[in-house]
Amino acid sequence: MMKPFDTIKPTSSPTQVHLETFGCQMNEYDSELVRSLMKQEGFVFTDERERADVILMNTCAIRENAHNKVYKHLSELKKLKRQRPLVVGVLGCMAQNLKDELTDIQPLIDVLAGPDAYRQLPTLIRNAMHSQEEGLDQKGLAVDLSEYETYHDVIPDRTDGVNAWIAVMRGCDNFCSFCVVPYTRGRERSRDPEGIVEEAHRIAGQGFKQITLLGQNVNSYRSGDWDFARLITAVADVPGIERVRFTSPHPKDFPLPLLEAVVAHPRICKQIHLPVQSGSDRILSMMNRTYTIQEYRALVDRIRAMRSDIVLSTDVICGFSGETDEDFDATYRLVEDIRFHSAFIFKYSERKNTIAARKFSDDVSDQVKTERVTRLFDLQRNISYERNKEYLNMTIPILVEGDAKRSAAQGMGKSDGNITVIWDKEKIPSQPGNLLSLAIYDASSTTLYAGLPPSPESITPPSVGICI
Ligand code: 5AD
Ligand code: SF4
Repeated sequence: MMKPFDTIKPTSSPTQVHLETFGCQMNEYDSELVRSLMKQEGFVFTDERERADVILMNTCAIRENAHNKVYKHLSELKKLKRQRPLVVGVLGCMAQNLKDELTDIQPLIDVLAGPDAYRQLPTLIRNAMHSQEEGLDQKGLAVDLSEYETYHDVIPDRTDGVNAWIAVMRGCDNFCSFCVVPYTRGRERSRDPEGIVEEAHRIAGQGFKQITLLGQNVNSYRSGDWDFARLITAVADVPGIERVRFTSPHPKDFPLPLLEAVVAHPRICKQIHLPVQSGSDRILSMMNRTYTIQEYRALVDRIRAMRSDIVLSTDVICGFSGETDEDFDATYRLVEDIRFHSAFIFKYSERKNTIAARKFSDDVSDQVKTERVTRLFDLQRNISYERNKEYLNMTIPILVEGDAKRSAAQGMGKSDGNITVIWDKEKIPSQPGNLLSLAIYDASSTTLYAGLPPSPESITPPSVGICI
């Protein structure tokens, strides 16, 4: 018989946990919550899979390739598990959405915990370890969604040092027909504003320079008479925080006060991610996006009229159910006209149980999806290059994040508009968290290259039209 959980004593050497994170920033943040909750219970974390007693995967289910990546990693664990006692846990969106399939087809999984069940993880893991010691094969399953869980009292175990994420709301009630998130992460709920502002003060006190407010539908934040405009302003007013960003918003939730806050507040970054998904009204309606292209264009025009230097990015899905050549052409023309600074372009990936999977057929061939993604990607790459060239010879503020991926001899940071900037560290020594003022001398479609600015007298400030 298995001993009840509370009679199990922690062993003398702490349990080593290896946590791998897939997917979006919300998942990165959730992994910080998981580390915090587990460290409080005496677990320690290791970067080395081979040393771990417990391997956890925080998963993403948004598209099939994210899903396949997790399966690939799981099958790699089979060998490890044959060699020694090992508890394997699947957390996050895949645990939630595929609970039946995963437990059936993956006997190697011991624990499944959905995004609202992280508080139960320490118990589930201890029980799973104990069950293994006893030669039993009991699975720990906690996948129920909550209408209330916001982890408001859990201090994330942050490792970055420059940027701190705060999830201000969780879940999504929009039910875009292609999207699995409302099923994997449940109903929308917002954290109380006082706790968020208090956390922002603590983060500033720890030396972080940037806060990114997170939510599946971040600008639908509401708590009492606080809306997102009031919240982001309160966070940006916290002394010591240089930059505030937010992701991911929905175009339907941009009332004027929010635009005014973004445009006018000196510490809210002049960057808005505005996922359009398609340029065809017919497809937008099938996607249940609740806006027309005319409304979307009007929002973009309004933003740009209020502030000409705002950086806009978007998400586009190619090959959604029933997307014709004409529908795709409308998307292509929209991207060409609006000239976003950058775009994430995805092939439509049908997800089980979504409205689109139930109502429509995934009838655009993979070949056509690939062709459309490639065409749009080529277009956007040229536009991004042209957009980035607009910064040539400007001196702009850059928040240093660390070293460039390709070489530790180069520093890497972000412009206010979230564009990656690189410089030679020998000429410009930099530390993460520094705010530098550098001159842009070259640009590619993804990167700006910076050097020391010319003498201050020769700097011409960029001309910015602000109108609120
Ligand atoms: N297929 C392809 N892309 C998707 N996205 C969400 N669900 C799907 C899907 N089923 C994209 C949307 C969204 C971004 C986060 O991921 O563009 O804005
Ligand atoms: Fe998914 Fe739409 Fe919600 Fe974004 S707004 S998480 S795309 S359902």
